[in-house]
Amino acid sequence: MQDLLKILIENNIHHTKNGKVASYIPELDKARKDALGVYVMTVDGAEYKAGDYEEKFTIQSISKIVSLMLAILDNGEEYVFSKVGMEPTGDPFNSIKKLETSIIKKPYNPLINAGAIVISSMIKGKDARDKFSRLLNFMRKIAEDETLDVNYKIYCGESDTGNRNRAMAYFMKGEGVIEGNVEDALDVYFKQCSIEVTAKTLSKIALFIANNGKLSNGEEVITPKIAIIVKTLMVTCGMYDSSGEFALRVGVPSKSGVGGGILSVVPGKMGIGVFGPSLDSKGNSIAGVALLEYLSKELNLTIF
Ligand code: DON
Repeated sequence: MQDLLKILIENNIHHTKNGKVASYIPELDKARKDALGVYVMTVDGAEYKAGDYEEKFTIQSISKIVSLMLAILDNGEEYVFSKVGMEPTGDPFNSIKKLETSIIKKPYNPLINAGAIVISSMIKGKDARDKFSRLLNFMRKIAEDETLDVNYKIYCGESDTGNRNRAMAYFMKGEGVIEGNVEDALDVYFKQCSIEVTAKTLSKIALFIANNGKLSNGEEVITPKIAIIVKTLMVTCGMYDSSGEFALRVGVPSKSGVGGGILSVVPGKMGIGVFGPSLDSKGNSIAGVALLEYLSKELNLTIF
C-alpha cells in the first residue's frame, strides 16, 4: 500500500499543471501549486502516506460535513432538514440563483454555501464565539487532535471577501430560513472554513465516519444514522456539480474544499485524506481527484 501511494503521487502530480490555486483571498494564492499528498488510515489501525501529507492548508468546505454532524446532534434531524434540503443542485457551490426560484424555499442541501451557512446558524451557543468554540472542539474530538485551530489571516480574508455569502445569508434571514443573528452565523462559517488541517487530519475524520461515528477508543460520538446521512450527502452533493462524475469515476463518499483538500470515506474500511491545491473548474483538487480514481480502481473501493 505504501508503495502504491508513492506511485500514485508520481503518476498524478503532472495534473497539477492543468488547474489553478484558489485566489479569491491573497493568502490562499500562496499555496504551492504542484503540491500533492495523501494519507490513508484503515479501520484496523494501519496508516500509509505519501507526498505532501504534512503540508498545512485550510479545510474550507470540508468543514461543512463536520458542522452538519454537530447541527444534527444539537437540533435533531427533523429540524435541520426543515431548514435545508437534501438534493444536489447541479450549480456551483456559491450559486445564488436557486435560493429565490426554488419551490422548496430553502437551500437545496447542507454542502453548498447557502445551506452550510444555515447549518452554522443552528450550532448551539450564546454568541458566535461560543458557537464556534463548540464546533472547533467537536472537530478536535473527531479528528483526535487538540491542536487544530484557525488560520486568522485566512479567516480575515474570508470575512473581507465573503460578500456573496453575506448576501445569501441576509436573503435567507429575510425568508425566515435563518433564525437568530445573521452575522453570528457568517462568523462561525468563515471561521470553520479557516481551520488549518493536513491530509492526515482529513483521513482521521474520514476514518471516524467510516467507523459510523466511533473514535479509536470505541466511543460513539454520533449515531450511525447521522453517519449515514453525512455519507449519503457526500455522495450526492460532496463534490459540487462534479458529484455525479466523481461517483462514477471514484465511487467513494467524499467532500472537497477550495484549500485543495478531499476527505474520502470508504465505509467500514478506511479514511482517506488528499491535499492538492491546484483546482479544476468546479473547485475540486484536480490531481487529487485523478489520484483517488486510480486508488479506487486499484483497491476496488467503489461502494456501488
Ligand atoms: O465560502 C466560500 O466561498 C469559501 N470559504 C469556499 C468554501 C469552499 O471550499 C467551497 N468549495 N469547494
